[in-house]
Amino acid sequence: MNEQTRDDITQFVKIQPSSEWNLRHVEVVVETALELSQHYPDADRDVIEAAAWLHDVGHNKKPVKENEHHLRAKEIAEPFLIRVSFPREKIPAVLHCVESHRTRKPPNPSTIEAKIVASADNLSHFKDFQWLLRVISREKALAKLERNLNAPFMIPEAKQQAEEILEQIDPSER
Ligand SMILES: [Fe+2]
Ligand SMILES: [Fe+2]
Repeated sequence: MNEQTRDDITQFVKIQPSSEWNLRHVEVVVETALELSQHYPDADRDVIEAAAWLHDVGHNKKPVKENEHHLRAKEIAEPFLIRVSFPREKIPAVLHCVESHRTRKPPNPSTIEAKIVASADNLSHFKDFQWLLRVISREKALAKLERNLNAPFMIPEAKQQAEEILEQIDPSER
């Protein structure tokens, strides 16, 4: 994607009224998704990058149930992407990644781009475990990692990295 579009997307995400946790999380997901995409040369990196930035914009100030933020994010992302001259023909693919990242709820990720974004979202919790602990209890955090690790759409490269990180987490912290 061109620099202008990338700037527009990052600025838009950064002014969203979401928590500090959320912006940091999103940056880790973007970086992780782009890394994972290198294993899949046919995957569309524009779609992956835009979706990774936008996947959690549904966490805004309006009351939104946690388990619906993926749908809210899609509602926000669609008019925004049209406005910033993101390639029109790629918008549906981005929206699919966004709507399917909340993988405990349908729809499930059905494209390689959506699997990469959802895998990066999952893997980010392993990479940033200490931050996860600041947001939810240890018990909930570990249960989350367990669910993330065994999610059916996890691409093998993400699952392997997640397993390696999990092995390094101090057993006394588990
Ligand atoms: Fe999310
Ligand atoms: Fe996320």
